[in-house]
Amino acid sequence: MITFPEGFLWGAATASYQVEGSPLADGAGPSVWHQFAHTPGTTEGGDTGDRACDHYRRYPEDLALMRRMSLGAYRFSIAWPRILPAGTGAINRAGLDFYSRLVDGLLEAGIVPFATLFHWDLPAALQERGGWANRESADWFAEYARTVFQALGDRVRHWITFNEPFIVVHEGHVLGEHAPGHRNVYEAAKAAHHILLGHARAVEILHQEIKKGEIGITVILSPMQAASDAEEDRHAARLAEAYQNRLFLDPLFFGTYPEELDEVFGDAWPEAFRTEAAGLAAPVDFVGVNYYSRVTAAANPGVFPSFREEAAKTEGRDRTQMGWEIYPEGLYEVLQWVNRRYGGPKLYVTESGAAFADPPPAGGRVADPERKAFLRDHFLQAHRAIREGADVGGYFVWSLLDNFEWALGYSRRFGLIHVDYGTQVRTIKDSGLWFAEMIGKNGFEERA
Ligand code: GCO
Repeated sequence: MITFPEGFLWGAATASYQVEGSPLADGAGPSVWHQFAHTPGTTEGGDTGDRACDHYRRYPEDLALMRRMSLGAYRFSIAWPRILPAGTGAINRAGLDFYSRLVDGLLEAGIVPFATLFHWDLPAALQERGGWANRESADWFAEYARTVFQALGDRVRHWITFNEPFIVVHEGHVLGEHAPGHRNVYEAAKAAHHILLGHARAVEILHQEIKKGEIGITVILSPMQAASDAEEDRHAARLAEAYQNRLFLDPLFFGTYPEELDEVFGDAWPEAFRTEAAGLAAPVDFVGVNYYSRVTAAANPGVFPSFREEAAKTEGRDRTQMGWEIYPEGLYEVLQWVNRRYGGPKLYVTESGAAFADPPPAGGRVADPERKAFLRDHFLQAHRAIREGADVGGYFVWSLLDNFEWALGYSRRFGLIHVDYGTQVRTIKDSGLWFAEMIGKNGFEERA
């Protein structure tokens, strides 16, 4: 029997724009994702988050499902433009009330709320003022964080400032495949630095406002391997690691940026950022780790960044519907890596999960054996890391519900719960039923 530590939190995660729908309801302002998804050619099938899982209106039903699944914790994100429709200034009470009701419902059900302040839906009004590339964004974020802490801090103890800032930087500002859809390395570098400035401010404010609160940041981590033994590929893997895994954590823990960033960003990475890094070391209470797969890096001279990711080394391995290699050992590797490199911080797995081409519900069931196997194999690796000393306090499956998978729209289903987007009928998948049973035992038979 594989048993997790007593009090281990088992949960599921979602994000506001991916599940809520009704993005402009009750006084909310538009977000960059609303505008991006409404721009032709940005998302698969032209899908938008206008309706999504209609969670904004159906959250009582979703709370009942969480209860049925015996979740110990729920990670959700707060839509900044519902709270401050113009990004700063006037507060929209109706927006705060929605999250307040959700939090009350969670507490009533005995489910611990984990609130993420920023899961990519920046108020569009702030993008017009330059978004994360504007240094003032750190102040905007601090104002928003304080507003939310004051409204919910009496009940929410666990806070996450940013979700995967690397993706905001890279997909949003280098590749242009996520909102705001920019392709500008100079903006990308500034966005990274300003997000960290905003994070440091929010951590400080939380510790002033909420005595019993814990605050952390969620990063996506991937084991990096070189595509070949050639020195240029090994160098590419080092650059990839600095850019993707250490860009946010090194300054937080060491007050320094990885030196490799000078080479990754070139003249887009000003000396001043390095000098300011000392002020970024902020005492986070935990690190949230999102893990999906590993990366193989090869040299890519003359292009930004000067490495590219490839799958060559991992051909023949099973993949999810995203095309991502299924590599459960990678979860163990990244947990051990953070644990050792950063001096044993408290950790939560804030996302881990998979999209598969699930069959439609039949007789009230969704048979998704691959997802169950995927989860079990990843849980085992988390358990292994814990046994070897990583201080992991909980594990959130991505995702509670099938939802809007960003640029891929509704074409990829990650949920423990199937959502029929036409009728909004929810069906707990077999993997979700297995997860519920596992939560009840805080573990599972190794061979089951
Ligand atoms: C992420 C995201 C999720 C994605 C998931 C699958 O943080 O990357 O939180 O929004 O849906 O990762 O791609």
